[in-house]
Formats: sequence, C-alpha cells, structure tokens
Amino acid sequence: MYRTHTCGELRLANLSQEVTLAGWVQRVRNLGGMTFIDLRDRYGITQLVVDDSCSAEVKEAASSLGREFVIQAKGRVLERSSKNNKIPTGEIEIAVSALNILNAADTPPFTIEDNTDGGDDLRMRYRYLDLRRNPLKEALMLRHRMAQVTRNFLSGENFMEIETPYMINSTPEGARDFLVPSRLNPGKFYALPQSPQTFKQLLMVAGYDRYFQIVRCFRDEDLRADRQPEFTQIDCEMSFVEQEDVLNIFERFAKTLFKEVLGVEFDYSFPRMSWHEAMEKYGSDKPDLRFGMEFNNITEDVKGKDFVVFDSAEYVGAIVAEGCAGYTRKQIDQLTDFVKRPQVGAKGLVWIRLDENGIKSSIDKFYTPEELSAIATKCGAKSGDLILILAGDRKHTLAALNVLRLEMGDRLGLRDPKKFAPLWVVDFPLLEWDEETQRFYAMHHPFTSPKPEDIEYMDSDPGRVRANAYDFCCNGVEVGGGSVRIFDSALQQKMFKLLGFTPEQAEAQFGFLMNAFKFGAPPHAGIAFGFDRFCSLFGGSDSIRDYIAFPKNNQGRDVMVDSPTTIDPAQLVDLKIKLVEEE
Ligand code: AMO
Repeated sequence: MYRTHTCGELRLANLSQEVTLAGWVQRVRNLGGMTFIDLRDRYGITQLVVDDSCSAEVKEAASSLGREFVIQAKGRVLERSSKNNKIPTGEIEIAVSALNILNAADTPPFTIEDNTDGGDDLRMRYRYLDLRRNPLKEALMLRHRMAQVTRNFLSGENFMEIETPYMINSTPEGARDFLVPSRLNPGKFYALPQSPQTFKQLLMVAGYDRYFQIVRCFRDEDLRADRQPEFTQIDCEMSFVEQEDVLNIFERFAKTLFKEVLGVEFDYSFPRMSWHEAMEKYGSDKPDLRFGMEFNNITEDVKGKDFVVFDSAEYVGAIVAEGCAGYTRKQIDQLTDFVKRPQVGAKGLVWIRLDENGIKSSIDKFYTPEELSAIATKCGAKSGDLILILAGDRKHTLAALNVLRLEMGDRLGLRDPKKFAPLWVVDFPLLEWDEETQRFYAMHHPFTSPKPEDIEYMDSDPGRVRANAYDFCCNGVEVGGGSVRIFDSALQQKMFKLLGFTPEQAEAQFGFLMNAFKFGAPPHAGIAFGFDRFCSLFGGSDSIRDYIAFPKNNQGRDVMVDSPTTIDPAQLVDLKIKLVEEE
C-alpha cells in the first residue's frame, strides 16, 4: 500500500498513529539537526520531520531530496510544538521512520506556489506543473463540482444525458468550422460541431423529450479571454414546452448551482429585460447589473446650440459617475484616451462636473450654466457627480458608452466578483442586418422561432420581427442562450429564404432536418450554457482558461503538445490533400 492517508487528512485526533503518506516535496528546510519536509498532494500539505533519532538511511534520503521529488514516508503522528494555523494539518507532523524516494525530479522551471514566479508562456508549456498549484487545482475542483450539481439537477428533472457525434457536417452557428478530412471519402470533410444544435432537435423528433449533454463544442473564431476554440456547453433541449417553461426550469437550475456550489441564494425571480431595453439602457445585450449608471439619451436635449458634434450626432448619451466631480484634468484625459482607443472608437469625451463651485464642462462655450443644469437634471446628477457624454452614430456610440460604463464601474469598485446580478435578456430580434454583405443573418441561429405575433412582418419588414430567444446573463457575461425552435418545415423554409438560401442550398445543408420535421416533430425549445464561462463567473475570474485543464493560448495553440503542427507529407497523400502555396 503506497499510502494510508492523504496529505490533507491528518489531525490531532490521529495522534500516535503509524501512517504512510506519499506525494511531492514542496519544500525542504534543513535546520542543523532537524529537517522539515513539506509533503504535498491534491488534498493538502503535511509536515514530515527527520531528526537525529532517525536511521542513517532516512537521514541520507532526506538530505538528497529536491523540490518536486515523489516520495513515500512512514512515521508516527505527533503534535507540533509550533503550530501552523494556516493549514488544516498544521497542528501535527510526522516523525519519519522510513523514507522512500519513488522518483527524483528535475528542478521545475517555476515555483509551485500559489503566487508563482513563472510567466504565462512558461506555465502553459508546463501546464501539468501549473496544475499542481492550488489556484488551478481549486478552479478544476469548482468545475467538477459544478458538473456534478448539473448532472444531479438535470437527471432529477428527467433529462437524459445523450452523446451526439463530434464528426458531423457544418452547423450554421455563425463561426467558422474546424474541418476533418475524410480518408475514406477523398475530397470530403467532416466538421467538428459548433454545438449539437441539429442533433438535439433530431432527438426531440425521436421522442427523447428532455435531453442534456455536457459537451465539447468547436468554433474557429478570434480568441478572447472568454472564448476558446474548443469549449464546453451544458446543452439542453425539451419538447412540449414554451419559452416560459424553459426560463422557469433553467432559472431553478441556475439557482441550484449558485446555492449548492457557492452558498449564494436569491430570494427573487431573475429580472427579465428586453433586448431593446438592454441596448437602450446599457448599450449591451449582456448588461452588468451589479451597478446602475444607466444611459441617459439626451440626443434631443442638446441639439441646436451650434455644437456641431452634438448637432450632427444620431445619438448623444450620458452616464453619471457618482462622486467623481473631483476627477483631475489628468484623470479625464486618461478617460478620453481610453474611449478614443480604436477598440472603443469614440471620437472624444464630453464632461460636465457638478460641485460646490457650480457647474462646469468641456462645452462651456456652447451651453449656458442653466442649459448644463437642465442636462444634469435630466440625467439625475447631483452635486459631486461627473457626467460623461459620448456622441455619434447610434450603434457605435451605445457600444462605446457600454465600455466606458464598465470601465467606470471597475474604477469605482462597483464590479465585485463575489456579487452576482443574474438576468434574462429576452425578445431578441430574429435577424441582424449585415452592412458588408447586405443581407440578414440569424441573430441566434436559423432554427429560432419568430414570435407568432411578429410572423406577419417576415416579408414586409423582417428587421422588426422579434424572436422567441433568450440569454442568461450575469455580471456582464453571456452565460447561456437558447430559443424556442421552428418545428414546422414550411416556416423553416421561409426562414432559410429570408437568410438568402436558395431552396437547393437549404436542401443540401438542412434537408435532413426539414425531412425529419415531416415525421412528427413536437414543439420544442432549448438552451445551452457556456460551462467554462459559468465556472469562471463562479470563480470570480474574467478568463475561462484557468477553468480548463489544458486550454489553448491566444493564438489557438497548445504550446505544451505543440499543436497545431505540420504533418507528415505521407498523411497528406493518404488524405489526397495538396497544400496551396501562399501567394
Ligand atoms: P450560443 O452560440 O449562444 O448558442 O452558445 C451558447 C453559450 O456557449 C458559450 N460560448 C462559448 N464559450 C467559450 N468559448 C467560445 N468560443 C464560446 N462560444 C459560445 C456562451 C454562449 O452563451 N446551439 C445554441 C444554443 C441553443 O440554442 O440551445 C448555441 O450554441 O456562454
């Protein structure tokens, strides 16, 4: 037997017991006649003591230990004379009677401590060493616990976990597909699923009225802190339900996760906000409701004073930064630079300051104090506040004001990661117009049902049609999204037509689904949560990477196994693939 206990287990109650532990050497301290060894495993750290009373073999083994050696130690549990109340095993130590080096270790390239000295790249290259550190271990434990609660909850609600294939055809989720060439079908490719969308709908046709899967999805898109090329969804679908049923059951699901994993309880129903309201008040379809600072639309209030920036603007919006009237010139310049960065794209920043000296602004030339006061009153600002204003075309200004609002939220400490403000965003538009390609795209996906009362506009005014689609958001993160599905093949065909598919293209890509709908498709609806995002939200981090055991870096590379790589020309020949030289 390698061990009788783990390194996180022993307490004063185990005093005098003979135990055997195994693990990694975290640290060795040699104090003359005594050697203290911190032995670590997944469960914790236990202190081993080697002193003069130990055998020569034990002393020799102890003197040859290095960091991260794998050892086995046998000994008796003693009470420590100087206790360490920072760790659960801090009241005891093991007087070693036998010490066995199971494996020596090279010196790790960075310290395996909570605050390590290793840079990002190095830690990614040696991810298996990084995973030995507590913060990552805790992140993966959180992930495991969330998966467990998810499975229990959904199984308890009669959902069946069913696997769907990873080698499929393209799913039109909006991103690019990762493709897998088929050797047996030269010139043909599988696509890795962007989500199991079509398969879960086919499962509804097959009669499995409650399905779920904790499933890997693949999307070839630009990476960000909250995006990975392969990520995991909690994917769900239900039959004989309406939007209300889905929101109710998955609100209970989210509440169960919050309660069982974090001990956080909500004694209210999650707010619901229409997409239009979210855009108007927060400039975002995933508003962070941990703080207010709602937008004030002052477009009409500021026109006609010869200030051309406002006069020519389609939209002028203001936010009130409470208590920020004391901002210095330098701080305001910083904010101006911030909004003018290409990623934010504002042309400039107008401010109005209200303090004991009255009202002052960057547009004093154009507006009298009374006119500025009227704007302040409209925005609900009071003495001590700073009003920040952006102007321009509606779409970009709302987006820029959203970034500014979040930045001010950060600066004012209003975005506490331990506070949670969940909501449902509902009534999304069905379609989104793309200027570049001059066509409509499905805002969610092509299988999303329009609201029955809006179907009449599908021909005359498609942009006006709202969808039975919903997102679950929390703290400015889109955690999940779903919709009621079209289950009528005629309506589905109409939708494909709106999206610019010819009947032949629709048939070629989705014939299997439309055909299936002819054989008795039940009304159905579903949702998918981004599992990695859910985990990072619970863990209080902006990056999903720490919640994935082996993630990709920002270039989509795994520097540990070195993927993607070039492949053996013989493999290409097998696949009948010829690489095109870049021009
Ligand atoms: P959607 O595309 O909105 O819906 O995806 C659902 C959720 O998946 C997460 N997500 C991601 N997480 C990490 N990295 C990514 N690249 C990434 N892309 C998406 C988000 C998102 O809310 N089939 C539909 C669901 C449905 O209609 O039932 C779908 O996939 O948290």
